[in-house]
Amino acid sequence: MTTPDDLPDHVRRNREAWDEWAVDYVDNGERSWRLAPGAEKWGNWNIPEAEVHMLPADLAGKDTIELGCGTAYVSAWLARRGARPVGIDNSEKQLATARRLQAEHGLDFPLLHGNAEIVPYPDASFDLAISEYGASIWADPYRWIPEAARLLRPAGRLIFLVNATPCSGPIAGFIDSSGRATNRSTSISGTATGSGCCGPMDSTSRT
Ligand SMILES: C[S@@+](CC[C@H](N)C(=O)[O-])C[C@H]1O[C@@H](n2cnc3c(N)ncnc32)[C@H](O)[C@@H]1O
Repeated sequence: MTTPDDLPDHVRRNREAWDEWAVDYVDNGERSWRLAPGAEKWGNWNIPEAEVHMLPADLAGKDTIELGCGTAYVSAWLARRGARPVGIDNSEKQLATARRLQAEHGLDFPLLHGNAEIVPYPDASFDLAISEYGASIWADPYRWIPEAARLLRPAGRLIFLVNATPCSGPIAGFIDSSGRATNRSTSISGTATGSGCCGPMDSTSRT
């Protein structure tokens, strides 16, 4: 566990805020934990997974990390699809709900209290990193995205969901990482679905 003194100012302030707000996220956590494989719903508009296919088809045996897991329902979905999830969140109060729901649903996976910008796992520990409105909107993108890349194995994938223009719906991003260090090539594509003002959108860029 990181103490508040170790944290960058924005992360410390986020921790205080989320420990206060956690109570308002219990209901959504409980509802979302109940969603069975194939019935998962994403984001503010409850976009069905069956429509957007955010999740890789074959998660069986894959090591995953959820960055800013909150009540950890996304990790629960991954576990039910056969993955081996780890969740990290900056708010102990959010994690308390996650732990209670783990016990209620009979699922057990590691939940870490900490900053997703500095994750206490070695390089190349995971096949998939994912963030639904977690680190993806609350952490410093110049820190959490390189950290996600560090944690991913070659050909690992980062999936994240944020609120963004152009259509005020959620934007889900996918980063595939193939090759590390000298031979890094990364593709990013985004899917915007949401308020009904625009349909699915894909864009790709390479770095
Ligand atoms: C809107 S919730 C999203 C999580 C999950 N999808 C949910 O709804 O419960 C945002 C979460 O991001 C977490 N968070 C914010 N900054 C973080 C950071 N730097 N590292 C890890 N988690 C962070 C908050 O504590 C909060 O639980």
